[in-house]
Amino acid sequence: MRIVLLGAPGAGKGTQAKKLIDKFAIPQISTGDILRKAVADGTSLGKEAKSYMDKGELVPDKVVIGLIQERLKQDDTKKGYILDGFPRNTAQAETLDKMLNDLVMPLDSALSIDVPKDDLMKRLTGRRTCKKCQQMYNVYFSPSKKDGVCDKCGGELFQRDDDKEETIKKRLDVYEAQTAPLIDYYKKKGMLKSISGTGSIDDIFRKVCAALGLK
Ligand code: AP5
Ligand code: MG
Repeated sequence: MRIVLLGAPGAGKGTQAKKLIDKFAIPQISTGDILRKAVADGTSLGKEAKSYMDKGELVPDKVVIGLIQERLKQDDTKKGYILDGFPRNTAQAETLDKMLNDLVMPLDSALSIDVPKDDLMKRLTGRRTCKKCQQMYNVYFSPSKKDGVCDKCGGELFQRDDDKEETIKKRLDVYEAQTAPLIDYYKKKGMLKSISGTGSIDDIFRKVCAALGLK
């Protein structure tokens, strides 16, 4: 299964991808996570990426396409993968198509998770993530039992640098202008599946599995 998860910032791509990994053991490839790790490690790539991420802008195509090319060469992708946050514009989508056609490994579907814009700000300003195990919480919708501490592993919870109101507004604008057109891109290819991303995380997961034909 090779799928692309589409959806605005805060739509729940990461949340649903993690549930797919737990149930089906397929790797999640999140360009956002890869870039955040490079930032945390202080690499030159991370330093370059941070300046774009902090402004809510896309990191240049050349950088993220290079990362994806490297990641897709790893062995664990042979049984499939979930692309989360890539592609992010038409140029990235066309490059991905070409790359996968060359490997004779085309995508199976693109799944769009649709959430009204008004809900996204609260989801993003309320998001907290565990430094150790990456478990996600939300101070409004799914808080940890003890403030700032992960229920699963006791790790410290942090707030992403780009989850500030001004940066979120910019990310949502960038999504509308550059990423939302991919919904039509995949529709025209007959690969698009769409679900509503409003409701409980478990209900949405059932819809994700049904849309992708997974049991
Ligand atoms: P990236 O990390 O991809 O962020 P994003 O697209 O902005 O999406 P998010 O991770 O914020 O949201 P999500 O949909 O994963 O939601 P989540 O599940 O966490 O990108 C970050 C930056 O990196 C970009 O701005 C760019 O600079 C750069 N970048 C990355 N990829 C790139 C690319 N390909 N090209 C160029 N630049 C790139 O959920 C959010 C919150 O909501 C959580 O608190 C969660 O608990 C909660 N939640 C989830 N589901 C529900 C629900 N059903 N009900 C209530 N709350 C819910
Ligand atoms: Mg995410």
